[in-house]
Amino acid sequence: MDQDGLKARLPGSIAQRVQSARMKDGVATLVVGADGLDAAGRQGLEAAIKDVIGGIEGVSEVRVAMMADRAPGAEPAGSPAPEAAKKPIIIAVGSGKGGVGKSTLTGNLAVALMRAGRKVGVVDADIYGPSQPTILATKGERPQAEGDKLVPVASPLGIPMLSMGHLVEPGKAIAWRGPMAGNALGQLIDARWGDVEVLLVDLPPGTGDVQLTMLQRYKPAGAVIVSTPQDLALIDAQRAANLFESGKVPIIGLVENMAGYTCPHCGETSDPFGRGGVEAAAEATGIPFMGRIPLALEIRQQADAGTPTAAGEGPQADAFATIAARLSDWLDGRAD
Ligand SMILES: Nc1ncnc2c1ncn2[C@@H]1O[C@H](COP(=O)(O)OP(=O)(O)OP(=O)(O)O)[C@@H](O)[C@H]1O
Ligand SMILES: [Mg+2]
Repeated sequence: MDQDGLKARLPGSIAQRVQSARMKDGVATLVVGADGLDAAGRQGLEAAIKDVIGGIEGVSEVRVAMMADRAPGAEPAGSPAPEAAKKPIIIAVGSGKGGVGKSTLTGNLAVALMRAGRKVGVVDADIYGPSQPTILATKGERPQAEGDKLVPVASPLGIPMLSMGHLVEPGKAIAWRGPMAGNALGQLIDARWGDVEVLLVDLPPGTGDVQLTMLQRYKPAGAVIVSTPQDLALIDAQRAANLFESGKVPIIGLVENMAGYTCPHCGETSDPFGRGGVEAAAEATGIPFMGRIPLALEIRQQADAGTPTAAGEGPQADAFATIAARLSDWLDGRAD
């Protein structure tokens, strides 16, 4: 069933709020404008949608993402824009160290920014180990080329994105050397982004060729650095900060990931990697602290399942929303 088919099942007052609706493998995903609604109104709207769409034959799951409407009447992100469309603002998400959660943060932050009304796109610059097709559920999609440029694919939540994972066979190792890798990245960034305003770029770990090419050629407007709380990760985060600073890329702030673990069985919270280290390090270096994402089984499971935590409700989704709000403020400050 296509977008119009799904919308046609909903009462008019609800259908007019639906910004995108998709069906894939029994999962219906709807992005819904929640303008003017309070928390109870949003809950009621979500319940009504789940009720109707969940009752359609062949639908096994309904996912609803509520968006705040910043720009009423605007087209959804990624819709075709005139040739002279402005280039998106590039925000790099980096870390000094691998496995600290750059990709998880990037995918979720994109969703949280979209929910805050931003037109956001995602580039997975980790060309050796792409994660975004999994996190944003676009595995197996193939971007088309238009002229000499790629056209991004859209995630089920409507986020336009490009990843090397869309261009090469899954599981096939890419043994490119630096310059080729840099060119491949160029294809992803210099694509037809339409009216995308903010492009989040998920960087590979470290401070190698890809990062340098990225900084020199595509000059991000700012960088978000991710770190886990332990000291060693912080030293690496500092190294990443130095790289951005040497490339004259402003650092928007530090995010502490995997902070505090709430045991799903006993409910007790512990701090396997320490606590508050990133905030203290941020303070000491004068870099703004953007927020803390807890270590939660659900965040990993949902990232693996392509249903980003930030699209739901609850404290974990709120943690991503807080960081998105800080980034949004930074973007607004920049425009002044
Ligand atoms: N807050 C979190 N809670 C639970 N699991 C998490 C959290 N953040 C990330 N993870 C998990 O940790 C692993 C590493 O995260 P992720 O791939 O985002 O890190 P990365 O920095 O992008 O890694 P790489 O350097 O390999 O690109 C993944 O399995 C991810 O699902
Ligand atoms: Mg990654």
